[in-house]
Amino acid sequence: MELLKSLEWRYATKKMNGNIVPQEKVDYIIEAARLAPSSSGLQPYQIFVITDKELLTKIQAIAFNQSQITECSHLLVFAAWDGYSLEKIEKVFARTVAERGLPANTMDDYKQRLWGMYEPLSQEWHATHAAKQAYIALGLAMAAAAEQKVDATPMEGFVAPELDKILGLEALGLKSAVILPLGYRDEAHDWLVNLKKVRTPKEVFVTEIK
Ligand SMILES: Cc1cc2nc3c(=O)[nH]c(=O)nc-3n(C[C@H](O)[C@H](O)[C@H](O)COP(=O)(O)O)c2cc1C
Repeated sequence: MELLKSLEWRYATKKMNGNIVPQEKVDYIIEAARLAPSSSGLQPYQIFVITDKELLTKIQAIAFNQSQITECSHLLVFAAWDGYSLEKIEKVFARTVAERGLPANTMDDYKQRLWGMYEPLSQEWHATHAAKQAYIALGLAMAAAAEQKVDATPMEGFVAPELDKILGLEALGLKSAVILPLGYRDEAHDWLVNLKKVRTPKEVFVTEIK
């Protein structure tokens, strides 16, 4: 119930008031994203947390001038791997077995099977698959923000290759997927704040197969 109330409260805030979100709330939201499940547990994404005003102004310019980018307190950039590789998979699995205190070769068969599936697929498929995983983390971050009464606007309205350039993501093997300004709604000036939340009716949204 509490979660649903928070989800009713949240909306894609169009105008923020510039107030600063306390660090513990930002940490909480990021922790929710870090705890997100991902395919094979690879977590093929990272989050960049941007508060530098000059940088935010630059990002706004390649994001259709959306005001939330400079009015927010923190801008989260979800950047996903630009592709899978055996090396990257090995690194994640090595950490998993080490942290679980398991023999080093525990996940070798799984690793080979997984890479056997991924290797023939295109780099574009890899990048899209990785970005899909990042969106799960985005969803949990938005839910956590709502729980903390922090406003957050999911955004795809930016020119991703330009953002990649600004943040030097290519050199890191990453591509920006989606961004999330965190802040507080400007109740007096946000045209969306009092409009009804509209969703697909349940009877259309859900098909029960019994
Ligand atoms: C992936 C994604 C991208 C979005 N991109 C933008 C955006 O660039 N700018 C914006 O103001 N809202 C953006 N939105 C917000 C949606 O328009 C909004 O979530 C939707 O209309 C539902 O409304 P609500 O979030 O207020 O309940 C985006 C939402 C999602 C999930």
